[in-house]
Amino acid sequence: MAETPQRAEAAGASPSASPAAVRTIYEKSRPGRRAYSLPHTGVPEAALDELFPGVALRGRPARLPEVAEVDLVRHFTELSGRDYGVETGAYPLGSCTMKYNPKVNERVAALPGLRGLHPYEPEGLVQGALELMDTLSLWLAEIAGLARTTLQPAAGAHGELTGLLLVRAYHEDRGSDPHLVLIPDTAHGTNPASVVMAGYRPATLPSDARGGIDLAAVRAFVADHAGDIACLMLTNPNTLGLFETDIVEVAQLVHEAGGLLYYDGANSNAVLGRSRPGDMGFDIVHFNTHKTFSTPHGGGGPGAGPVVVRDILEPYLPVPVLKKTGAHRYTLDYDRPRSIGKMRSFYGNFGVLVRAYAYIRGLGADGLREVSDAAVLNATYVMAGIGDLFEVPYERPVMHEFVLSAEPLRQHGVRALDLAKRLLDYGVHPPTTYFPLIVKEALMVEPTETESKDDLDALVAAVRAVVGEAHTDPELLRTAPHTMPVGRLDEVAAARNPVLRQRFPGDEPAAVRPA
Ligand SMILES: Cc1ncc(COP(=O)(O)O)c(C=O)c1O
Repeated sequence: MAETPQRAEAAGASPSASPAAVRTIYEKSRPGRRAYSLPHTGVPEAALDELFPGVALRGRPARLPEVAEVDLVRHFTELSGRDYGVETGAYPLGSCTMKYNPKVNERVAALPGLRGLHPYEPEGLVQGALELMDTLSLWLAEIAGLARTTLQPAAGAHGELTGLLLVRAYHEDRGSDPHLVLIPDTAHGTNPASVVMAGYRPATLPSDARGGIDLAAVRAFVADHAGDIACLMLTNPNTLGLFETDIVEVAQLVHEAGGLLYYDGANSNAVLGRSRPGDMGFDIVHFNTHKTFSTPHGGGGPGAGPVVVRDILEPYLPVPVLKKTGAHRYTLDYDRPRSIGKMRSFYGNFGVLVRAYAYIRGLGADGLREVSDAAVLNATYVMAGIGDLFEVPYERPVMHEFVLSAEPLRQHGVRALDLAKRLLDYGVHPPTTYFPLIVKEALMVEPTETESKDDLDALVAAVRAVVGEAHTDPELLRTAPHTMPVGRLDEVAAARNPVLRQRFPGDEPAAVRPA
């Protein structure tokens, strides 16, 4: 439990200085300045309303910033330096897997023969691309321990929806109409959302004292609702970073009750090459390529959430299904009467799938195993470095991420959020806070496999320094950050009343909705 952290000073952790505020591009605007200079065309100018009579034209020109090219370049260069990402430093945001990915995979995806493909090109001209997709599908099936893959879904949550629609098609084909999908109380928010989108009802299962799915609760639920269980959705390791050791028994219970098992593969980094969801009893798996297989993460995509299934679900896969017709010959099969239909335009986010292919091909089976080894080792190392400062809700070996409770800091009037904000002053990206919901004042740390020991030491040192400040000067945390371009933001007001418009002198003030 909370003790004063001396290791922080030894590692030289200290807050950085505050950068100056950036003016908006509108504030830099000067009338008449331009970022281009074109020769006169010699064509006489004509008024717009003469060219477009009767068309609704705006009454006054749009107020665009008027800046020179150099102003523009400097403005955006300055802004880009304010950004924080995996190329700036460690990003231990638990559940998000913000890992650095090798640049060679970007190079491969940018090869003209791959980048320049158009989805309407005839099959005969894109056999190489189809072979790449087929090979990736086989590798993912091997990694999952299952039979067939669809590369269509565009994200993890989209994979969940695809998987649940496969579950629905499977039950409908058997003339059964179950309503419930079991989800543990540690589940990621997308799980229940996908369940509802697929027309099912989520049923929450409690976790046991070890932070795993409560086997007795599963047994009782299954006994009460046999025949009405469509599926159980689970990630393993779960969002507490703990391995579900009872999974084989859970799978058996759900299967006996007529349900299927869906594996949320968001935490696959912990088990790559070590254990396979298919072997644990799962029937459907999605992978988040942006977590596990080298897609840049963040900024809204594009991503991919390939789904792999047991052979019994193969007839329902989205169309088109890639079919091998001979040596190095492929076709796209649309003639699939039992298919759930299309989940996405064309065949998936091809560029993202190329990155996943390059990543797996580059690492090979041994390399993938090293990924999970390093992910677990790094999380275990950081846990050993900071665990003594907090409450450990479940005393178990951690996998690729771990969850601590900042409850002990409350005696100083400090919350997990304050600690996270103060870490920003140390140039460290904070961990996830307040998730999973079952741990009070949760801090969820996922260092990822790509961080070096030096980077992990710096993270540990910064957390220890901030917890030290919580003991000696808690106000420093409560009012943090102090060195960022902006201080503590009112996040509720920002969400309820986002001010997204540049206002000019003379504009009416922004309307403010009551909180
Ligand atoms: C455990 C878990 N499941 C599902 C998802 C959803 O994945 P995506 O963001 O690709 O839709 C996430 C995303 O963070 C996750 O952590």
